[in-house]
Amino acid sequence: MTCAPCVGAASTTTTTRLSPYCAPTPVPPPDARDSRPTLISITGSARTSPARSPRLTAAELPFLAPAIPVPGTAYRSGGATADDPGRLPLSELETVMPNHPPGVSRETRQGGDLTSAARRISLDLSVCSNRLGPPDSAVRALESFAAERYRELGPPPYGAEKAYLAAYAAHLDVDESQLLCGRGVTEFLMIFGRLLQSEDVALVTPEYTETMRQFSHAAFYPPAIGRQDCIEHRNERLLQAMRNHRYVVLSNPNNPQGLYTNTATLLEACHQNPNCTLVVDEEYIEFQGPALSLAGADADNLVVLQSTGKTWGVTATRAGILWTRDTTLHHAVQHQLPAWPLSLLDITVATAALVDNEWAHRILPRVRHDAQALEELLRDRFGEAVIPSNIHFRFVHLEDPDAVAEHLEDYGIAVRVFDGAVRGRISGMRVMTPDTAKEFDLLKDALATIPRRLRRGTTSNFRYPGKSVLETIPAATTPFQAQTT
Ligand SMILES: Cc1ncc(COP(=O)(O)O)c(C=O)c1O
Repeated sequence: MTCAPCVGAASTTTTTRLSPYCAPTPVPPPDARDSRPTLISITGSARTSPARSPRLTAAELPFLAPAIPVPGTAYRSGGATADDPGRLPLSELETVMPNHPPGVSRETRQGGDLTSAARRISLDLSVCSNRLGPPDSAVRALESFAAERYRELGPPPYGAEKAYLAAYAAHLDVDESQLLCGRGVTEFLMIFGRLLQSEDVALVTPEYTETMRQFSHAAFYPPAIGRQDCIEHRNERLLQAMRNHRYVVLSNPNNPQGLYTNTATLLEACHQNPNCTLVVDEEYIEFQGPALSLAGADADNLVVLQSTGKTWGVTATRAGILWTRDTTLHHAVQHQLPAWPLSLLDITVATAALVDNEWAHRILPRVRHDAQALEELLRDRFGEAVIPSNIHFRFVHLEDPDAVAEHLEDYGIAVRVFDGAVRGRISGMRVMTPDTAKEFDLLKDALATIPRRLRRGTTSNFRYPGKSVLETIPAATTPFQAQTT
């Protein structure tokens, strides 16, 4: 089920849609946003801590946030009576929110989520998953499972994950006992979000949306105001964060900018800062190049996360791994995983994809090559606002990314939009690489007609006045260490 985005309301009536699937979403200060509809997210923590959701009064909370929110239901603030609990079916949203555009705002839609796109999309460049996948070998594995092994769908898949773990250990050339598997990098981020919720964590932003959600309590290290981000600047912030915090979470290469810090720099940072554990999310590492993972590196204060989803174009399967030599952390995470951590169908597809080296060697260089052509096309239009990268998407700084996305939608193209006024974001769009000449031509046509005024980039880097990066470091003892030692 797609998570109902935490989306709100018109200027006159505050409406909140509750979703039990949503973790806290940073809410920008009211005066920082433009005139678009108000975004509000209600979560368990907002209920118990009204101060975290600045637009709600304590009096509103009891009926805004019932004990078990009904998914896909809107909750209205104000006007509730005993007969009218303030709950509205989604179909009535438009009447309550006269200014609300058809569909939810682009910013709140994650890559590949076209469920609420207002127009017909024929070319989805908002995704991050390899559009040339899945490998035929993975599809054949699924077919032969359905034909020959379907009876295995009956019992719980005890031990089935061993095939996936063994394939990943061979792929990374690491000891299998140092790996755990879970439902994609996302599950590990969620587990760390829980384990480290009262810990001193820092993120080098902008970061992957789910990471910023799970670590909304973290200190964020954004690019300096007026400075376009680049590898050097990101590394400066990373080192600063590692010097000052117990944990740093970093996607490398990064989403959404595609910036990549080399292994030597990251390892050196770990060695120089033994009191900080670095969690590196390597979701996109195979796009950068082969054999670049930090898994297996000589560091005890390092955690590596990877998945088979994006690289092999099987994101709808949910499978990934964690590698670390830190046995305390390993056990703490393991404790949070179910006895059968992966679905047997996911194991079947993802393992077949992972071991298909011929496919990876043939396809990934092609993706890199095409992405370079995309970069040139974008540079032609947006110049220096395009961030150079080696992976499969590119980020473009834009003053008004929403208007650019709307223009592209007129051509049936979807891109991922980021609203710079949201904490942890920078203003711009992320564009995935087209994979056929026809798709390139469509994008070229769409870009050719973008009005000059929309081509402006920005590095103003709106600074969300959230938690300061200068806060003091809490004591080193962590709750999970207390439990496991
Ligand atoms: C940086 C980053 N990490 C992790 C993920 C989630 O990946 P998975 O499918 O492995 O859960 C994404 C998805 O977009 C991502 O961009």
